[in-house]
Amino acid sequence: MAKETKRVLMTGAAGQIGSELAQALRAKYGRDNVLVTDVVRPPAVLAESGPFELVDVTNRSALDGLIGKFGADTVYHLAALLSATGEKNPQKAWDVNMNGLYNILEIGRARGLVRIFSPSSIAVFGPSTPRERTPQDTVLGPSTMYGVTKVAGELLADYYVRKYGLDVRGCRYPGIISHLTLPGGGTTDYAVAIYYEAVKHGRYTCFLREDTRLPMMYMPDCLKCTLDLMDADFARLSYHAGFNVTAMSFSAGELAAEIRKHVPGFEVRYEPDFRQAIADSWPASIDDSAARAEWDWKPDYDLAAMTVDMLAALRARYAAGTLGV
Ligand code: SER
Repeated sequence: MAKETKRVLMTGAAGQIGSELAQALRAKYGRDNVLVTDVVRPPAVLAESGPFELVDVTNRSALDGLIGKFGADTVYHLAALLSATGEKNPQKAWDVNMNGLYNILEIGRARGLVRIFSPSSIAVFGPSTPRERTPQDTVLGPSTMYGVTKVAGELLADYYVRKYGLDVRGCRYPGIISHLTLPGGGTTDYAVAIYYEAVKHGRYTCFLREDTRLPMMYMPDCLKCTLDLMDADFARLSYHAGFNVTAMSFSAGELAAEIRKHVPGFEVRYEPDFRQAIADSWPASIDDSAARAEWDWKPDYDLAAMTVDMLAALRARYAAGTLGV
């Protein structure tokens, strides 16, 4: 009988994914059973809806103390610097992403944690990876520090599974699109910002080229994907820390055209910056058949359904005056 999650600690809870995943975990396990942590205070709705602590994931003793005191048996380790921020400060990206994960794995080993979630990314792939329907097992060779840390993180996590029997799981998230917390410092962030600007100003200046096509996923699918992977039967898994997952692929121009169906006259200019080279090194589409076979992964949202939902949510926030300027 597999050991069950009862008490969860999350790192990186103030981020785009963490802030929504934490609420989903509180709904699932009970609000007092999910301790959210970050180096900054998360939005009030999260910090005030259950336990919250400030902690730096590079500080192993502080992290270990919190896990011990709270009695966490499962960790969702979301703290990381993303691709664009990582290129601005590669040393910090290595420190936070690698030492943060190493600390969590070592604490997990020493304390015999039930399960750890460690997300990976499409950033593990690189310029020599096949770009269309990128296979599960293929050339990695990332060109960003973020990608380097995600490849090393997958390998390290898989090592702990093999060597110590620690149950570590993770998927290679594509770009994640959502309307509650803005992403910070990623290359796929344009696909979130474009919706905000469409609602607020009816125009957007995109930092990628119009024909740049990348794999993406809407937040409800991201939450489902994460929770389902963590609930999967361990015996069915042949992969652990680096499952390919995707929901859709579109170019910046195709996204703009979809939004224009609902925002007539929506104007987009394209002014690529340093993030173009990062996007060009990533896959355009992903083969996620291993995730589908091993834990029944299947997304619900495509581009059209996501766009209807995003625009309705952002328009409601705009009308309520909570969308910023
Ligand atoms: N969304 C991430 C980024 O753009 C990819 O994992 O950095």
